Amino acid sequence: MIKKAVIPAAGLGTRFLPATKAQPKEMLPIIDTPTIQFVVQEAVDSGIDDILIVSGKGKRAIEDHFDRNQELESILQEKQDEDAYNAVRHIGDMANIHYIRQKELNGLGDAISYGRQHVGNEAFAVLLGDTIIDSIIPVTQQLIDLYEQYNQSVVAVEEVPQEIVFRYGVIGGKKLTDTLWQVTEMVEKPDVDKSPSNLAFAGRYILTPEIFQALEDTPPGKNNELQLTDAMIRMGEFQSIYAHRIEGKRYDIGNKLDYLKTMVEFGLKRKEFADELMGFLKNIVKS
Ligand code: UTP
Repeated sequence: MIKKAVIPAAGLGTRFLPATKAQPKEMLPIIDTPTIQFVVQEAVDSGIDDILIVSGKGKRAIEDHFDRNQELESILQEKQDEDAYNAVRHIGDMANIHYIRQKELNGLGDAISYGRQHVGNEAFAVLLGDTIIDSIIPVTQQLIDLYEQYNQSVVAVEEVPQEIVFRYGVIGGKKLTDTLWQVTEMVEKPDVDKSPSNLAFAGRYILTPEIFQALEDTPPGKNNELQLTDAMIRMGEFQSIYAHRIEGKRYDIGNKLDYLKTMVEFGLKRKEFADELMGFLKNIVKS
């Protein structure tokens, strides 16, 4: 049973400056809902009730968002604005959320290593705080189902165009089913012509607790940061790692163009906006 998740959300978000100068990129809203709320909801929908958010400097808004705001709640009650009240109350009750501060921004692997004490000796989920995945079955649940079958780490991957593999961590492996690989190779940001595949990490992982020792034993890698991929390579020497091609669509909020696309797609999914937004977009295209 996977009951705990770590959500790394301490990064600087330099690709989204200046918006992220004084606010966390994980709080960038998709219409009216901050990105990290979608991420927490995915964890909760996957049966996880204990979440550790790795936060850092300038990330207070995340803590405030998941806290109760009784003043706001009573104002909404007085105004009899039931929808807004329920939405606000729901956030405060989503899960048991804990926080830990990453003292120096030494990379994703370093951020996850801060989960060691909280997670203890059990497998856990990792969900990147700046990545939303829209799917029928929550992707974390898809990974948990496989973990329960194989009892080994399972990472989410998605196919990306070959010419942009250099932006991602990529796996190579033995194909077991249409959507499952046994990983034999992992490379962080490979050269396009040397990449083992076009299956890129999709921001969701189930990791066995051995990852913490592997992180401790792994030296800093690219950009002098502790890379999760390097630690997984080390862990892969002792145990199998599986990769699951996700059934769902990934949205990387940390990159401006993807953020814009996400906003449009999510707008079109909302009943109250769909028709007008589509008309607006058609007019733009026409002119
Ligand atoms: P990214 O590499 O996309 O985040 O990490 P970043 O470093 O903020 O991005 P840029 O390149 O400067 O724009 C993916 C997730 O891991 C977290 C980030 O907050 C993000 O949610 N992260 C990254 C940490 O928690 N700590 C780190 O040291 C690095």
